Amino acid sequence: MKSLSGKVVLITGATSGIGKATALAFGKAGSRLIVAGRREAEGAHLVTELKALGAEARFVRTDVSQEAEVRTLVETTVTTFGRLDVAFNNAGVEAAGPITEFTVEEYRRVFDVNVLGVLLALKYEIPALLQSGGGSIINTSSVAGQIGMANVNLYVASKHAVEGITRSTALEYAAQGIRVNAIAPGAIVTDMVQRFTGGPETETGKYLASMHPLGRMGRPEEVAQTVLFLASDEASFVTGHTLAVDGGWLAK
Ligand SMILES: NC(=O)c1ccc[n+]([C@@H]2O[C@H](COP(=O)([O-])OP(=O)(O)OC[C@H]3O[C@@H](n4cnc5c(N)ncnc54)[C@H](O)[C@@H]3O)[C@@H](O)[C@H]2O)c1
Repeated sequence: MKSLSGKVVLITGATSGIGKATALAFGKAGSRLIVAGRREAEGAHLVTELKALGAEARFVRTDVSQEAEVRTLVETTVTTFGRLDVAFNNAGVEAAGPITEFTVEEYRRVFDVNVLGVLLALKYEIPALLQSGGGSIINTSSVAGQIGMANVNLYVASKHAVEGITRSTALEYAAQGIRVNAIAPGAIVTDMVQRFTGGPETETGKYLASMHPLGRMGRPEEVAQTVLFLASDEASFVTGHTLAVDGGWLAK
């Protein structure tokens, strides 16, 4: 997508899975990248891969649940590249188990990353985007942000929150040229799904794959392309929307 060349793109949770595939896709499109995550070695490796594609890139170690670290992340973006054009708030953690067994600690672990992490990112990204004259934000929800799922209460609640935050922030900043959308992936083959299912050949893995009318789980690269679309000028009239990338799961 031509409109992404030279754009400054910030991605959280960029060291693996959907975040990493999306960083590489933006790199191929000629964007300049700030990739954020908690893992230094994986971050350095990703920067090497991005530079091999000819992209300018920098890793900033960031835990999205820590306000000071998120503030530094956005400040570093602006000092490095002079502006911010696109933010992909993607860091997230999974959780599973019956409602009668959840703990307050588990609630805080999930909501600190999936909800507070997105709110903090927006708090600091928006002033930087306004300084650039506008831009595009994409938050990572899930099919779990749209429907209920037994035994996945905390995760479902956190992703429903992401969708509410996305719509409200879109309304708050539409007049100032910031578009805010979300993506809702189905099951995508990443470390997260591996942890959740124990692998594609397990009963849970097969069950999860069967939830998609397309008959398989998705690939991180397929999610990346929808993020690039929402970030680009091709999506100039799209805001406050959640785009499913789910092999038809939500159409049932
Ligand atoms: N894989 C799926 O099936 C699927 C489906 C729907 C939504 N999602 C969402 O996609 C996003 C990416 O997940 P993924 O599937 O690529 O799995 P993943 O585990 O590979 O990626 C999640 C990333 O977030 C990072 N992260 C976790 N806590 C963090 C924190 N406090 N600060 C900074 N980074 C942190 C992890 O280190 C990791 O790099 C998540 O928000 C997840 O909820 C995934």
